[in-house]
Amino acid sequence: MSQPAPSAPNVAQRIQELRAELVRHEHLYYVLDAPEISDAAYDALMNELKRLEAARPELVTPDSPTQRVGGKPAEGFRKASHSRPMLSLDNAYSAEDLADWDRRVRELAAGLPVAYMAELKMDGLSAALRYEPAPNGAARLAAGITRGDGQTGEDVTSNIRTIRSVPLSIRRELLQKLSLPEAFEVRGETVMSEAAFQRLNEEREQQGLPPAVNPRNAAAGTLRTLDPCIVASRRLDFYAYFLLVDGDYWPQGQRATLDALDALGFHVNPHRQLVSTLDEMTAFIEQAESIRAELGYEIDGVVFKVDSYATQQRLGSTGRAPRWAIAYKFTARSGVTRVLGITVQVGRTGKLTPVAELDPVFIGGTTVSRATLHNADFIAGLGLRIGDWIKVERGGDVIPKVVEVVHDSDHPRGKLSFSFPLVCPECKSAVVRVQGEVDWRCVNADCPAKLRESLLHFGRREVMNIEGLGEAVVQQLLERQLVKSVADLYRLNDSLLLTLEKEVTRPNKAPKKEHLLGPKARAALLGEIEESKHAGLARVLMGLGIRYVGERTAELIAGEFGDMDALQRAAEIAPEKLERVEEVGPQISGAIAEFFAQPANRALVHSLKDAGVGMTAEKKRRSEKLAGLTFVLTGTLPTLTRDEAERMIEAAGGKTAGSVSKKTNYVVAGEEAGSKLNKARELKIRVLNEAELLALLENGAIPDQA
Ligand code: IVH
Repeated sequence: MSQPAPSAPNVAQRIQELRAELVRHEHLYYVLDAPEISDAAYDALMNELKRLEAARPELVTPDSPTQRVGGKPAEGFRKASHSRPMLSLDNAYSAEDLADWDRRVRELAAGLPVAYMAELKMDGLSAALRYEPAPNGAARLAAGITRGDGQTGEDVTSNIRTIRSVPLSIRRELLQKLSLPEAFEVRGETVMSEAAFQRLNEEREQQGLPPAVNPRNAAAGTLRTLDPCIVASRRLDFYAYFLLVDGDYWPQGQRATLDALDALGFHVNPHRQLVSTLDEMTAFIEQAESIRAELGYEIDGVVFKVDSYATQQRLGSTGRAPRWAIAYKFTARSGVTRVLGITVQVGRTGKLTPVAELDPVFIGGTTVSRATLHNADFIAGLGLRIGDWIKVERGGDVIPKVVEVVHDSDHPRGKLSFSFPLVCPECKSAVVRVQGEVDWRCVNADCPAKLRESLLHFGRREVMNIEGLGEAVVQQLLERQLVKSVADLYRLNDSLLLTLEKEVTRPNKAPKKEHLLGPKARAALLGEIEESKHAGLARVLMGLGIRYVGERTAELIAGEFGDMDALQRAAEIAPEKLERVEEVGPQISGAIAEFFAQPANRALVHSLKDAGVGMTAEKKRRSEKLAGLTFVLTGTLPTLTRDEAERMIEAAGGKTAGSVSKKTNYVVAGEEAGSKLNKARELKIRVLNEAELLALLENGAIPDQA
């Protein structure tokens, strides 16, 4: 199908309009976090621009929004020298450090104004963006360079271009308003948000790769990735904090610099303030610490910069850092301690996780005595031996992370290298590592550790919420062989719970056995087990422990299928239907299909059902626009895939069928439609094209045929 070619000047004009609109919406979305239009509407504008540019390639410019992800993977990065060295910052770790620095600044300023711009110290990598004159009086992004050693960095322009909050060009009027030339440089911090970091690690886990250590490392790795498509998918962000003209800082001062960068359309951290006394500096630090956890990206301190350019000039720099700025680092949330041993835990899926047993160390308010080592590759990557000293960090979350092995004259290397066990530490059956995966697993279906972990998982608050089902109870239930699967929980009664025991130690006497649970605790546990029968399909799905089916996925699946039978049918007969659920791809659908393929799992679902566990969910409310109508799809539609079209029809209450019959109300035909189209004509069934289908979905009616 060819579209009528709009006349030439029209196309050029439309291209300009679309670019301006897209740039405006990118700024609203990525910088101001205040989108005006839906993602679909944005995509529609982008698609129109792509189409027009494809028809008129001579009109494509490097600053067009279509050119963010351009070109093929690079072979390597060119070196590029900085217009002026990218220095580091001196650090302050206490109020005294800060007071000392403030005193020195005031002395050296010798009467020139001293006020500081307080900014957050974002934990990423600094980069320099060079803008150069474009033909229309605008400035255009010409290069993006990493800090490197401060003198020379790497030219990562194609990667910087993929960051949506970085303007590819800046209009002439904006430059004029600020009396800025068309050539200048912007410096700032490239960061990865915590959400993007988590998404990356989920992906890495699904691909069997070890997790990235922290957002900063992940951002660094991403910026040095050779394929810009991958970089674009990682969603980096860039916060601007310096503006340089002719290789020198903008002479209006730091506060005006940040405001100017803001006006130019850059992402500038909104948490900033002009402060002039130590009290104000301390208050800013406290404020920053209090919002730290909610920012969504990591910060490791606060930066104070002398605001006045004249004062900055007078203070100058050492070879390493400017004297007019300082980084106040938050109290260290890391500690160095010794690895006393490595134990291996078995999870509910049989996954073996090595855990470092540490000499207890106090970090950020808690004592840390264990830290996960993830898998054998992680240990190998660290080069860790038992007896080594390691650096442990506590980030925004509570789980401590092992960062690196510390090795110097005070911290000698350990002697004993760790070899991963060949048998399951709990049931002693052989462990396996599937090719391409990082984890070793115990595949013994009856491994007691797996059952113990499954029971604990089942009882968790986010799952079936059975509060009394803690470690001691589970351990006893297993020892007394009262449960062999989660379904057996529903057979427990007061007299069975009465048999659970605990050992009580007594001074100077032999330990004594007592009931583990008193009458109240037994009644409470039984009440919670009973209550959990109404937890609903999503929680039951989570409780079954199907691989990759976490809270969100379980909810989406439950909302789509409504009950366990429908899900099981789909999993057994047509697993591809599972992929109609948002966010479910072949990996998750495969795991669900595999789950239901096992007779033992089907039996488990059956016994849960028999025990009275509810397995329904409120189905996603569907529109009823197409209720009672049956559609058959044939041929290739111009923009929708077959699956998308089917999903849209079903979401609007319609049915889809594979073959045309008298019961068919509409046949939707695309290019190369075959026999179904002939059959439709034979039976005089209305044939729709994609546009008509979309109109029907939108308005419940088809526009009159021209
Ligand atoms: S100013 C010459 N401002 O911290 C001045 N740096 O420890 C150097 N950083 O290399 C940069 N947030 O990567 C400045 N608001 C901020 C910052 C910031 C994070 C990083 C930057 C720098 C490092 C120095």
